[in-house]
Amino acid sequence: MEKIISDNYNSMALVDMWADFIDWKKRRQGEDGFLKKTLLENNCQRIFEACLGDGCDTIYLLKEGFEVTSNDLDLLFIKKAQENARREKVKLNITSYDWRELGKHFEKSFDAVICLGNSLTYLFDEKDRLKTLTQFRKMLVNGGILIIDERNYQYILDNNKAILKGDFRYSANYVYCGNKVHGTPIEITPEKVVFEYSDTARKRKARLELYPFKRGELLNLLKKAGFKKISQYSDYKKTYSKNADFYQYVAIT
Ligand SMILES: C[S@@+](CC[C@H](N)C(=O)[O-])C[C@H]1O[C@@H](n2cnc3c(N)ncnc32)[C@H](O)[C@@H]1O
Repeated sequence: MEKIISDNYNSMALVDMWADFIDWKKRRQGEDGFLKKTLLENNCQRIFEACLGDGCDTIYLLKEGFEVTSNDLDLLFIKKAQENARREKVKLNITSYDWRELGKHFEKSFDAVICLGNSLTYLFDEKDRLKTLTQFRKMLVNGGILIIDERNYQYILDNNKAILKGDFRYSANYVYCGNKVHGTPIEITPEKVVFEYSDTARKRKARLELYPFKRGELLNLLKKAGFKKISQYSDYKKTYSKNADFYQYVAIT
């Protein structure tokens, strides 16, 4: 089971801060067409977004003409995404399944599964992470792709002392791009990292407890889950950089 800080886990404060934390417009600028290009290059039309959040990526993909089924467990995030979809004049097709149970509901049904925004890190047990990735693979048609990302936790683990003293290096150009809400690690161990999200202007804070992937760990897990061809990107560039903020993987069934 995922370990969560119950009173902060996707609390109302975090859900309300999310758009200012990620900055929808800057997220698109940061990925510079990576998502759409990857989907089109792999002939993907039917997309399953495993973790809808506030709807940022689903709403973009719907506007770009993809068919999207959007999943999330958290009702507050689902409500926020629905509000955002109404404002953006698109209609969401929502499911609310635990990733580990997805195989019961879908089999070879999608051209792509996306799990973005550093989401798999919510699961603390390796068996759960492997089960999730295996379910994602089984939901895909032959030749279908999983696009998944992770924060560069190795940098955080390697520099824990300096970071806890306040020297946290993060460009804010990729994935989490907002400048009104900042996320900073306040506790760092190999087993968990606690992030605190602060909106100083509105004097609000929230926290999440997350599992820090070690270098190479997610790549190995993708292989173990049975994906055949896996490409790794560093801040959307097809190379490995130990200084990246985020890593993306495109894994083909
Ligand atoms: C870090 S947020 C990312 C949201 C969005 N994808 C983004 O990029 O902004 C992770 C989301 O995953 C959802 N989530 C966490 N564990 C889950 C699980 N086991 N099954 C389904 N959704 C889950 C959470 O509710 C949360 O909305």
